[in-house]
Amino acid sequence: MDIKTIGIIGAGTMGSGIAQVMAASGFEVILMDVKDEFIERGMENINWGLNKMVEKGKMTNEEKEKVIDRVHTTTRLEDIAKADFVIEAVPEIAELKFDIFKRLDVLCPEYIILSTNTSSISITRIASATKRQDKVIGMHFMNPAPVMKLMEIIRGKNTSDETFTAVKSLVGRIGNIPVESKDSPGFIVNRVLMPMINEAVFALMEGVASAEDIDKAMTLGANLPMGPLALADLIGLDTVLSITESIYRETGDQKHRPCPLLKRYVDTGQLGKKTGRGFYKYGL
Ligand code: CAA
Repeated sequence: MDIKTIGIIGAGTMGSGIAQVMAASGFEVILMDVKDEFIERGMENINWGLNKMVEKGKMTNEEKEKVIDRVHTTTRLEDIAKADFVIEAVPEIAELKFDIFKRLDVLCPEYIILSTNTSSISITRIASATKRQDKVIGMHFMNPAPVMKLMEIIRGKNTSDETFTAVKSLVGRIGNIPVESKDSPGFIVNRVLMPMINEAVFALMEGVASAEDIDKAMTLGANLPMGPLALADLIGLDTVLSITESIYRETGDQKHRPCPLLKRYVDTGQLGKKTGRGFYKYGL
C-alpha cells in the first residue's frame, strides 16, 4: 500500500527523532505520547534538530515550518489507527511494549504493519502479543535518528517477506541504509556497543582513569566520534541499563552483567544529557 501517514508511539529521544526524520522525508506524522509535557518536550527536540539544519543551510525556515506542520500530536492511542504504518518507540520495558502491541492490534486495520524500535527485546515475543505476527517487524533506528544512517531490520519468527520488503522500501525512502539482523539479544549494534559502554563504566568505577580520560582514550585511540561515557549520556543511562539488563537476562552470560556504578547513576536520576547530568554535566 502507499504509505502517507506514519504513526509514532512515544515522543522521547527516539520517537521525536524518528518523527523528525519521517516528517522531513515528506510523510504526515501522528506522534503520540501519554502526557502533554512529553509531547511538548518531543516537539522541542524536533524544533532544535530542524533549527540545526536551518543553521547549516540544509533547510530553509519555510521548509522547517512545513516539516513541523506535518507532525500532528495526540495523547490518544486510538488516533494511531489513522496511520498507514506504525512505529513504536516507547521505553525498553517488555510488558509495556506487549501491552501497546495488543492494543494496536485491536485498533489498527489488519493490513497495517506494526514496527518496533526496540533495541533489545525479541521481535517474536512482541509479535506474539498480536494476531498479525506476519506484519510485526523490528525497525531499529540509531540515536540521534536524524543523523545516523543505519537501520537494523529484524524479522520475528513469523514476519512475512511482504512486510520485510515494505519496510526495506520505506527505509530507502528516508535515505537510511538497512542491515538485517536475526532476532537475537541486542541485535548487532547493541550486542557489540553495550559491552563497550558497560566496560567503560567498570573502568571508571575501578578508578582506572577519569571519565574525561576514558573518553579521550577511546576517541583518540580507537577513532570513535565520541567516547563511550559521553555516548552513554547521549543514549540515556536508563536506556543503556535496560538494554544491558535485557541482553544479560536473555543470554545469561556474565559478560553482560551491568556495572553497579551504572545502576547507581540511574537510581539517583542522573540519566545523562536529557536530565542535565550523567557522567558529565550539561547546561540545560
Ligand atoms: N537533527 C538534524 N541534524 C543534526 C541533529 C539533529 N537532531 N543533531 C546533529 N545534527 C547534525 C549537525 O547539524 C551536524 O551537521 P553537519 O555535519 O552538516 O555539520 C552533524 O549532525 C554533527 O553534529 P554536531 O556538529 O552538533 O556534533 P558532532 O560533530 O559532535 O556530532 C554526533 C555529534 C552526531 C552525535 C557524533 O558525535 C556521533 O556520531 N556520535 C556517535 C553516535 C552513535 O554512536 N550513535 C549510536 C548510538 S547506539 C544506538 O543509538 C542504538 C541504541 O539502541 C541505543
